[in-house]
Amino acid sequence: MPEAKPFAEKALALEFLRVVEAAAIAAARTMGKGDPTLSDGVAVEAMRVVLDTIPIRGTVVIGEGERDEAPMLYIGERVGLGYSHSGDAGEYPEVDIAVDPLEGTNLCATGAPNAIAVLAAAEQGGLLFAPDTYMEKIIVGPECDGQLDLDAPVADNLNAMARALDRHIEDLVVVVLDRPRHEQLIADIRRAGARIKLIGDGDLSAGISAAIAGTNVHAVMGIGGAPEEVLTAAALRCVNGHMLARLKPRHERDVERMERMGIGDVRRIYTENDLAPGQNLVFAACGVTSGTLLDGVRFWGGGKRTHSLVMTYQWRHIRFIDTVHLDGDPDTRVRL
Ligand code: FBP
Repeated sequence: MPEAKPFAEKALALEFLRVVEAAAIAAARTMGKGDPTLSDGVAVEAMRVVLDTIPIRGTVVIGEGERDEAPMLYIGERVGLGYSHSGDAGEYPEVDIAVDPLEGTNLCATGAPNAIAVLAAAEQGGLLFAPDTYMEKIIVGPECDGQLDLDAPVADNLNAMARALDRHIEDLVVVVLDRPRHEQLIADIRRAGARIKLIGDGDLSAGISAAIAGTNVHAVMGIGGAPEEVLTAAALRCVNGHMLARLKPRHERDVERMERMGIGDVRRIYTENDLAPGQNLVFAACGVTSGTLLDGVRFWGGGKRTHSLVMTYQWRHIRFIDTVHLDGDPDTRVRL
Protein backbone atom coordinates (compact mmCIF):
# COMPACT_ATOMS: atom_id res chain seq x y z
CA MET A 1 0.00 0.00 0.00
CA PRO A 2 1.45 3.49 -0.81
CA GLU A 3 2.49 5.68 2.09
CA ALA A 4 -0.34 7.67 3.71
CA LYS A 5 -0.28 11.47 3.61
CA PRO A 6 0.31 13.25 6.93
CA PHE A 7 -2.73 14.36 8.89
CA ALA A 8 -3.62 17.95 7.92
CA GLU A 9 -5.75 19.75 10.50
CA LYS A 10 -6.73 22.55 8.16
CA ALA A 11 -7.92 20.29 5.39
CA LEU A 12 -10.00 18.09 7.67
CA ALA A 13 -11.52 20.54 10.18
CA LEU A 14 -14.53 21.38 8.07
CA GLU A 15 -14.97 17.74 7.07
CA PHE A 16 -15.31 16.83 10.74
CA LEU A 17 -17.75 19.71 11.15
CA ARG A 18 -20.09 17.89 8.74
CA VAL A 19 -19.86 14.77 10.90
CA VAL A 20 -20.95 16.45 14.14
CA GLU A 21 -23.59 18.52 12.37
CA ALA A 22 -25.19 15.37 10.95
CA ALA A 23 -25.20 13.66 14.35
CA ALA A 24 -26.63 16.73 16.08
CA ILE A 25 -29.40 17.18 13.52
CA ALA A 26 -30.43 13.54 13.77
CA ALA A 27 -30.42 13.60 17.57
CA ALA A 28 -32.22 16.94 17.79
CA ARG A 29 -35.14 15.48 15.82
CA THR A 30 -35.70 13.14 18.78
CA MET A 31 -35.44 15.86 21.44
CA GLY A 32 -37.93 15.41 24.26
CA LYS A 33 -39.16 12.02 23.09
CA GLY A 34 -38.02 10.54 26.38
CA ASP A 35 -36.06 7.81 24.60
CA PRO A 36 -32.28 8.16 25.18
CA THR A 37 -31.52 4.94 23.28
CA LEU A 38 -33.32 6.22 20.20
CA SER A 39 -31.57 9.61 20.43
CA ASP A 40 -28.15 7.98 20.74
CA GLY A 41 -28.87 5.45 18.00
CA VAL A 42 -29.79 8.03 15.37
CA ALA A 43 -26.77 10.19 16.26
CA VAL A 44 -24.41 7.21 15.95
CA GLU A 45 -25.87 6.18 12.60
CA ALA A 46 -25.73 9.70 11.15
CA MET A 47 -22.15 10.16 12.32
CA ARG A 48 -21.09 6.80 10.87
CA VAL A 49 -22.56 7.56 7.44
CA VAL A 50 -20.83 10.96 7.12
CA LEU A 51 -17.51 9.68 8.48
CA ASP A 52 -17.31 7.31 5.54
CA THR A 53 -17.41 10.25 3.10
CA ILE A 54 -14.25 11.84 4.57
CA PRO A 55 -10.85 11.37 2.90
CA ILE A 56 -9.12 9.56 5.76
CA ARG A 57 -8.17 6.10 6.91
CA GLY A 58 -9.73 6.47 10.34
CA THR A 59 -9.63 4.20 13.37
CA VAL A 60 -12.10 4.70 16.21
CA VAL A 61 -10.11 4.77 19.47
CA ILE A 62 -12.89 6.14 21.68
CA GLY A 63 -16.34 5.09 20.57
CA GLU A 64 -19.58 3.47 21.57
CA GLY A 65 -17.87 0.53 23.28
CA GLU A 66 -16.10 -2.63 22.29
CA ARG A 67 -17.00 -4.50 19.10
CA ASP A 68 -19.40 -6.94 20.76
CA GLU A 69 -21.19 -4.13 22.63
CA ALA A 70 -21.74 -1.71 19.74
CA PRO A 71 -22.95 -2.28 16.19
CA MET A 72 -21.33 0.95 14.98
CA LEU A 73 -18.43 3.20 15.94
CA TYR A 74 -17.00 0.48 18.14
CA ILE A 75 -13.40 0.76 19.31
CA GLY A 76 -11.10 -0.40 16.54
CA GLU A 77 -13.66 0.18 13.78
CA ARG A 78 -12.22 1.49 10.52
CA VAL A 79 -13.95 4.55 9.09
CA GLY A 80 -13.44 7.01 6.24
CA LEU A 81 -13.18 6.92 2.48
CA GLY A 82 -9.87 5.09 2.71
CA TYR A 83 -11.66 2.08 4.13
CA SER A 84 -15.03 2.37 2.38
CA HIS A 85 -13.38 2.47 -1.10
CA SER A 86 -10.37 0.30 -1.76
CA GLY A 87 -9.05 2.27 -4.82
CA ASP A 88 -6.62 5.02 -3.70
CA ALA A 89 -6.76 4.36 0.06
CA GLY A 90 -3.02 4.88 0.39
CA GLU A 91 -3.38 8.59 -0.34
CA TYR A 92 -5.50 9.22 2.69
CA PRO A 93 -4.00 10.07 6.09
CA GLU A 94 -4.19 7.64 9.01
CA VAL A 95 -6.30 9.34 11.66
CA ASP A 96 -7.33 8.25 15.16
CA ILE A 97 -10.87 9.27 15.99
CA ALA A 98 -12.64 9.73 19.34
CA VAL A 99 -16.39 10.20 19.19
CA ASP A 100 -19.33 10.82 21.44
CA PRO A 101 -22.16 11.10 18.89
CA LEU A 102 -24.52 12.28 21.61
CA GLU A 103 -22.94 13.54 24.82
CA GLY A 104 -25.85 13.90 27.21
CA THR A 105 -28.35 11.33 25.92
CA ASN A 106 -30.72 12.05 28.81
CA LEU A 107 -30.41 15.79 28.20
CA CYS A 108 -31.57 15.29 24.62
CA ALA A 109 -34.33 12.87 25.62
CA THR A 110 -35.74 15.42 28.05
CA GLY A 111 -34.95 18.57 26.06
CA ALA A 112 -32.56 19.82 28.76
CA PRO A 113 -29.62 22.13 27.90
CA ASN A 114 -26.08 21.21 26.83
CA ALA A 115 -26.50 18.02 24.77
CA ILE A 116 -23.81 18.05 22.05
CA ALA A 117 -22.41 15.81 19.30
CA VAL A 118 -18.62 15.52 19.58
CA LEU A 119 -15.59 14.25 17.68
CA ALA A 120 -11.84 14.62 18.14
CA ALA A 121 -9.21 13.52 15.65
CA ALA A 122 -5.42 13.22 15.77
CA GLU A 123 -2.54 11.52 14.03
CA GLN A 124 -2.09 7.85 15.00
CA GLY A 125 -1.42 7.57 18.73
CA GLY A 126 -2.56 11.15 19.37
CA LEU A 127 -5.51 10.22 21.59
CA LEU A 128 -5.22 7.91 24.59
CA PHE A 129 -7.02 4.61 24.22
CA ALA A 130 -8.91 5.10 27.52
CA PRO A 131 -10.87 2.28 29.12
CA ASP A 132 -14.61 2.71 29.43
CA THR A 133 -14.59 3.52 33.12
CA TYR A 134 -14.62 6.66 35.27
CA MET A 135 -12.02 9.35 35.89
CA GLU A 136 -11.81 11.84 38.73
CA LYS A 137 -10.64 15.21 37.60
CA ILE A 138 -10.23 18.95 38.01
CA ILE A 139 -10.59 21.07 34.87
CA VAL A 140 -9.60 24.73 34.77
CA GLY A 141 -8.56 27.55 32.47
CA PRO A 142 -5.04 28.67 31.44
CA GLU A 143 -4.42 30.89 34.49
CA CYS A 144 -4.51 27.93 36.88
CA ASP A 145 -1.80 25.90 35.15
CA GLY A 146 0.48 24.26 37.72
CA GLN A 147 -1.48 25.62 40.69
CA LEU A 148 -3.57 22.54 41.55
CA ASP A 149 -3.05 19.14 43.11
CA LEU A 150 -5.59 16.34 42.60
CA ASP A 151 -4.80 14.97 46.07
CA ALA A 152 -4.98 18.29 47.92
CA PRO A 153 -7.99 19.22 50.04
CA VAL A 154 -10.80 20.78 47.96
CA ALA A 155 -10.48 24.10 49.81
CA ASP A 156 -6.76 24.34 48.94
CA ASN A 157 -7.47 23.89 45.25
CA LEU A 158 -10.30 26.43 45.34
CA ASN A 159 -8.05 28.96 47.10
CA ALA A 160 -5.36 28.40 44.47
CA MET A 161 -7.91 28.93 41.68
CA ALA A 162 -9.22 32.11 43.31
CA ARG A 163 -5.67 33.47 43.58
CA ALA A 164 -4.84 32.57 39.98
CA LEU A 165 -8.05 34.15 38.70
CA ASP A 166 -7.65 37.19 40.96
CA ARG A 167 -11.09 36.85 42.52
CA HIS A 168 -12.64 35.82 45.80
CA ILE A 169 -13.37 32.17 46.38
CA GLU A 170 -17.06 33.14 46.71
CA ASP A 171 -16.94 34.34 43.09
CA LEU A 172 -15.93 30.94 41.70
CA VAL A 173 -18.49 28.71 40.00
CA VAL A 174 -17.64 25.00 40.04
CA VAL A 175 -19.61 22.54 37.92
CA VAL A 176 -20.26 19.16 39.52
CA LEU A 177 -22.28 16.22 38.19
CA ASP A 178 -25.27 15.73 40.47
CA ARG A 179 -24.50 12.21 41.71
CA PRO A 180 -24.57 10.60 45.17
CA ARG A 181 -20.82 9.86 44.78
CA HIS A 182 -20.20 13.62 44.93
CA GLU A 183 -21.89 14.24 48.28
CA GLN A 184 -18.60 14.88 50.10
CA LEU A 185 -17.14 16.96 47.25
CA ILE A 186 -20.24 19.17 47.17
CA ALA A 187 -20.12 19.63 50.95
CA ASP A 188 -16.42 20.55 50.77
CA ILE A 189 -16.97 23.10 47.98
CA ARG A 190 -19.85 24.65 49.91
CA ARG A 191 -17.81 24.82 53.10
CA ALA A 192 -14.96 26.54 51.24
CA GLY A 193 -17.44 29.19 50.06
CA ALA A 194 -17.40 28.68 46.27
CA ARG A 195 -20.62 28.49 44.29
CA ILE A 196 -21.74 25.26 42.63
CA LYS A 197 -23.61 24.53 39.43
CA LEU A 198 -25.00 21.00 39.70
CA ILE A 199 -25.64 19.39 36.34
CA GLY A 200 -27.61 16.24 35.55
CA ASP A 201 -25.32 15.16 32.71
CA GLY A 202 -22.83 16.52 30.21
CA ASP A 203 -19.56 17.29 31.95
CA LEU A 204 -17.71 17.41 28.62
CA SER A 205 -19.24 20.70 27.54
CA ALA A 206 -18.83 21.97 31.12
CA GLY A 207 -15.12 21.11 30.92
CA ILE A 208 -14.65 23.18 27.78
CA SER A 209 -16.62 26.04 29.36
CA ALA A 210 -14.24 26.05 32.34
CA ALA A 211 -11.36 26.91 30.02
CA ILE A 212 -13.20 29.69 28.17
CA ALA A 213 -13.64 33.11 29.77
CA GLY A 214 -17.14 34.58 29.87
CA THR A 215 -18.97 31.31 30.46
CA ASN A 216 -19.24 31.87 34.23
CA VAL A 217 -17.78 28.41 34.81
CA HIS A 218 -14.37 28.39 36.49
CA ALA A 219 -13.80 24.71 37.15
CA VAL A 220 -15.25 21.24 36.82
CA MET A 221 -14.59 18.83 39.66
CA GLY A 222 -15.58 15.25 40.39
CA ILE A 223 -15.91 11.89 38.67
CA GLY A 224 -17.18 11.42 35.11
CA GLY A 225 -16.65 9.10 32.16
CA ALA A 226 -13.03 8.42 31.08
CA PRO A 227 -13.85 8.51 27.34
CA GLU A 228 -15.39 11.96 27.86
CA GLU A 229 -12.15 13.09 29.52
CA VAL A 230 -10.09 12.19 26.45
CA LEU A 231 -12.42 14.27 24.29
CA THR A 232 -12.28 17.09 26.84
CA ALA A 233 -8.47 16.89 26.83
CA ALA A 234 -8.38 17.33 23.04
CA ALA A 235 -10.55 20.43 23.37
CA LEU A 236 -8.45 21.79 26.24
CA ARG A 237 -5.27 21.47 24.17
CA CYS A 238 -6.87 23.77 21.61
CA VAL A 239 -8.07 26.43 24.10
CA ASN A 240 -5.09 26.32 26.50
CA GLY A 241 -7.15 24.75 29.26
CA HIS A 242 -5.79 22.28 31.84
CA MET A 243 -6.85 19.17 33.63
CA LEU A 244 -5.61 16.70 36.19
CA ALA A 245 -7.31 13.32 35.98
CA ARG A 246 -6.98 9.81 37.39
CA LEU A 247 -8.74 6.60 36.38
CA LYS A 248 -11.38 5.49 38.85
CA PRO A 249 -12.42 1.90 38.12
CA ARG A 250 -16.04 1.16 38.99
CA HIS A 251 -15.58 -2.53 39.71
CA GLU A 252 -13.16 -5.46 39.36
CA ARG A 253 -14.02 -5.87 35.66
CA ASP A 254 -12.72 -2.35 35.00
CA VAL A 255 -9.45 -3.15 36.76
CA GLU A 256 -9.02 -6.29 34.63
CA ARG A 257 -9.79 -4.28 31.49
CA MET A 258 -7.18 -1.68 32.48
CA GLU A 259 -4.60 -4.41 33.04
CA ARG A 260 -5.38 -5.93 29.62
CA MET A 261 -4.80 -2.50 28.11
CA GLY A 262 -1.39 -2.30 29.77
CA ILE A 263 -2.30 0.37 32.32
CA GLY A 264 -0.12 -0.72 35.21
CA ASP A 265 -0.29 2.30 37.47
CA VAL A 266 -3.95 2.96 38.29
CA ARG A 267 -2.97 5.90 40.51
CA ARG A 268 -1.28 7.75 37.65
CA ILE A 269 -2.33 11.37 37.25
CA TYR A 270 -2.90 12.40 33.65
CA THR A 271 -2.90 15.90 32.20
CA GLU A 272 -4.53 17.03 28.95
CA ASN A 273 -1.16 16.37 27.26
CA ASP A 274 -1.20 12.73 28.36
CA LEU A 275 -4.81 12.10 27.36
CA ALA A 276 -4.57 13.85 23.99
CA PRO A 277 -0.85 13.97 23.14
CA GLY A 278 -1.39 14.56 19.41
CA GLN A 279 0.55 17.27 17.57
CA ASN A 280 -2.23 17.53 15.03
CA LEU A 281 -5.63 17.78 16.64
CA VAL A 282 -9.09 18.70 15.50
CA PHE A 283 -11.97 19.01 17.94
CA ALA A 284 -15.52 19.50 16.66
CA ALA A 285 -18.79 19.77 18.60
CA CYS A 286 -22.28 20.73 17.46
CA GLY A 287 -25.10 21.79 19.81
CA VAL A 288 -28.09 19.46 19.98
CA THR A 289 -29.97 21.36 22.69
CA SER A 290 -29.04 24.97 23.53
CA GLY A 291 -26.51 25.38 26.31
CA THR A 292 -23.68 27.46 27.76
CA LEU A 293 -21.39 27.08 24.74
CA LEU A 294 -23.60 26.30 21.78
CA ASP A 295 -27.14 26.80 20.52
CA GLY A 296 -29.19 23.74 19.76
CA VAL A 297 -30.46 22.74 16.31
CA ARG A 298 -33.36 24.82 15.01
CA PHE A 299 -35.71 23.41 12.37
CA TRP A 300 -38.05 25.33 10.11
CA GLY A 301 -40.03 24.53 6.97
CA GLY A 302 -37.13 24.96 4.56
CA GLY A 303 -34.19 23.57 6.49
CA LYS A 304 -32.30 23.70 9.77
CA ARG A 305 -29.64 25.77 11.48
CA THR A 306 -26.78 24.41 13.55
CA HIS A 307 -24.22 25.98 15.86
CA SER A 308 -20.83 24.33 16.20
CA LEU A 309 -17.37 24.75 17.65
CA VAL A 310 -14.44 23.57 15.52
CA MET A 311 -10.90 23.93 16.84
CA THR A 312 -7.42 23.04 15.62
CA TYR A 313 -4.32 22.72 17.77
CA GLN A 314 -1.51 23.58 15.33
CA TRP A 315 -3.42 26.25 13.53
CA ARG A 316 -4.82 27.84 16.71
CA HIS A 317 -8.21 28.34 15.09
CA ILE A 318 -11.27 28.40 17.32
CA ARG A 319 -14.29 28.72 15.12
CA PHE A 320 -17.87 29.11 16.27
CA ILE A 321 -19.80 28.17 13.15
CA ASP A 322 -23.43 28.98 12.42
CA THR A 323 -24.59 26.86 9.47
CA VAL A 324 -27.85 27.08 7.56
CA HIS A 325 -28.70 23.76 5.90
CA LEU A 326 -31.29 24.26 3.15
CA ASP A 327 -33.58 21.37 2.35
CA GLY A 328 -33.67 22.04 -1.40
CA ASP A 329 -36.94 23.94 -1.84
CA PRO A 330 -35.99 26.71 -4.35
CA ASP A 331 -38.44 29.17 -2.71
CA THR A 332 -36.87 29.04 0.76
CA ARG A 333 -35.60 32.39 2.01
CA VAL A 334 -32.43 32.33 4.13
CA ARG A 335 -32.71 34.32 7.37
CA LEU A 336 -29.98 36.28 9.10
P1 FBP B 1 -24.04 9.97 28.07
O1 FBP B 1 -24.00 10.95 26.98
O2 FBP B 1 -23.41 8.68 27.70
O3 FBP B 1 -25.42 9.84 28.60
O4 FBP B 1 -23.09 10.55 29.24
C1 FBP B 1 -23.43 11.69 29.93
C2 FBP B 1 -22.57 11.88 31.17
O5 FBP B 1 -23.24 12.75 32.05
C3 FBP B 1 -21.17 12.41 30.90
O6 FBP B 1 -21.15 13.78 30.63
C4 FBP B 1 -20.47 12.06 32.17
O7 FBP B 1 -19.07 12.07 32.04
C5 FBP B 1 -21.01 10.67 32.45
O8 FBP B 1 -22.30 10.63 31.83
C6 FBP B 1 -21.16 10.37 33.90
O9 FBP B 1 -21.55 9.05 34.06
P2 FBP B 1 -22.70 8.58 35.07
O10 FBP B 1 -24.03 9.00 34.49
O11 FBP B 1 -22.54 7.11 35.14
O12 FBP B 1 -22.46 9.27 36.36
